[in-house]
Amino acid sequence: MPLKPDKVLITAALLYANGALHFGHLAGAYLAADAYARFERMRGSDVLFLSGSDEYGVAIALSAELAGRSPVEHVDLYHKSNQELFSKLNFSFNHYSRTSWEGHRIPVLQYFNDLQENGFVEKRATEQLYSPEEKRFLADRYVIGGCPRCRFDAARGDECPKCGASYEATDLIAPRSRLSNASLTKKTTTHWFLLLDKLAPKVNEWIATKRWKPTVLNFLKHYLDNPLPRAITRDGTWGVPVPGEEGKVFYVWFEAPIGYISAAIEWAEKSGNPLAWQEYWFDPKTKLVQFIGKDNIYFHGIFFPAMTMGQNLPYKIVDELPANEFLNLEGRQFSKSDNWTIDLTDILTRYSPDQLRYTLAANAPESSDAEFTFKDLQLRCNGELVGKYGNLANRSLVFASAKCGGVIPPATLQPRDLLFLDQLAALTAQVQEAYSSFRLRRVCQLIMEISSLGNAYFDEKKPWATAKHEETLPDMQTTIHCSLLALKALAVVAKPIMPQTTEKLWALLGLDPSLHTHWDEALNLPLTVGHPLPTPTPLFSKISDEEIAAELAKLHGGGNYLG
Ligand code: MF3
Ligand code: ZN
Repeated sequence: MPLKPDKVLITAALLYANGALHFGHLAGAYLAADAYARFERMRGSDVLFLSGSDEYGVAIALSAELAGRSPVEHVDLYHKSNQELFSKLNFSFNHYSRTSWEGHRIPVLQYFNDLQENGFVEKRATEQLYSPEEKRFLADRYVIGGCPRCRFDAARGDECPKCGASYEATDLIAPRSRLSNASLTKKTTTHWFLLLDKLAPKVNEWIATKRWKPTVLNFLKHYLDNPLPRAITRDGTWGVPVPGEEGKVFYVWFEAPIGYISAAIEWAEKSGNPLAWQEYWFDPKTKLVQFIGKDNIYFHGIFFPAMTMGQNLPYKIVDELPANEFLNLEGRQFSKSDNWTIDLTDILTRYSPDQLRYTLAANAPESSDAEFTFKDLQLRCNGELVGKYGNLANRSLVFASAKCGGVIPPATLQPRDLLFLDQLAALTAQVQEAYSSFRLRRVCQLIMEISSLGNAYFDEKKPWATAKHEETLPDMQTTIHCSLLALKALAVVAKPIMPQTTEKLWALLGLDPSLHTHWDEALNLPLTVGHPLPTPTPLFSKISDEEIAAELAKLHGGGNYLG
């Protein structure tokens, strides 16, 4: 009987639909998720890869209001443009959902009802700032006032930009509305709280079984030392309405993670088998891998698991939580307001998705913050992609076309060639290991090691010399045959990171695209002697110093940057 494929449910953090997807997001959660999903599919796993837009909540409502749009218009705009960007970058989501679609509320209400029935949520009275003029409660993001610590006059509702103090909005001196400037009063209101203190023992027990990155575990343990009940509802209208409560919606971090479930439900509905989502979410054998940036660790490692433990359906709880650190840009944090950022739509007009994907993967912020610089983009693209990977492809394919009649030459393997093929196999096995443990930096290093190994073999075997004499012709052919095998391996192992280029390389080897889909089969596929090879063309182009100078000028503003 054929073995049942492993089921892997992969999620990438739902992206706030109030701004454009940027490099920081890609490096944090998304690229790692896409590469892993592609890798698992190649291993033959049954993959469901989901993400989407996180569209509700106070931050989105406020950002829409500031932009002079309705929340619906606002999220529509960013949902569409971000989805488009992902597709330009060749992301392979099975579905890209959004939390404002009507089906999202169903599992949200199911969670809430179950938590209520099981005594894990409770209604409590709290004091909130109220605007008599606007006749509404204002969430902290809508509020400014005097900092209770340093008295700075325009402190935000949750923290002071001047002294860094963090507090409750009700602590502000003379609080006022950020939008209308109206002064605010304190008024009692009630909210639902998730009783994390009650759920913590179960969460603790579960966390103890996890072998995640120490940074992630330490962070979570720190929170579990003092698990406090947390409000899961807000005053407002932009969100999933709380049943039986006028003017209240669920807190975005309560409903958004359930978006991973509703995304699967929507996917199943669209795929014509409305119950198909349960095969992933309800099967204890499914592996749930959730890719996030480090700022989301608490909500994915404690809050959402606790919510899930407190409700009644057999949903999976996260198995692997590969959380990346942050990516900086040219020595500073990305910042939209300071215009210290890179417009992805714009940069994609000058560089290929694979150039960007490779550079970001090679430099992924896996164990500490990392940095994107244009110089590094140039070095990676010229030194590594053109100089190593592309060089091996180019010289082997051009040689085959010139000296082997444009077909796959025969091979008579000698000890030197066998050694090369052994080394190649050892490195490809390491790549598989690195993908399985979410280490894209290591994958990229190994891809370059394989390229260098191939180039060194080519240099050492000197096919240009052996091509000159009748009696050494078989050795030349063997060299080219083995170099083409190395290229084939490179077209397989780099596919999750550079899907477009590897597809092209596979075609340049004269191979059928349908044989490129399965990791082991593609690696073990022999090259058929005598099979014709298409005319070679380069895989990558170089980035000039002028182009890099222009990028830096653009970043530093005004186009006249000289430094
Ligand atoms: N939108 C959040 C962020 O970008 C992530 C939400 S993830 C979810 O930080 F779990 F809530 F969906
Ligand atoms: Zn202050």
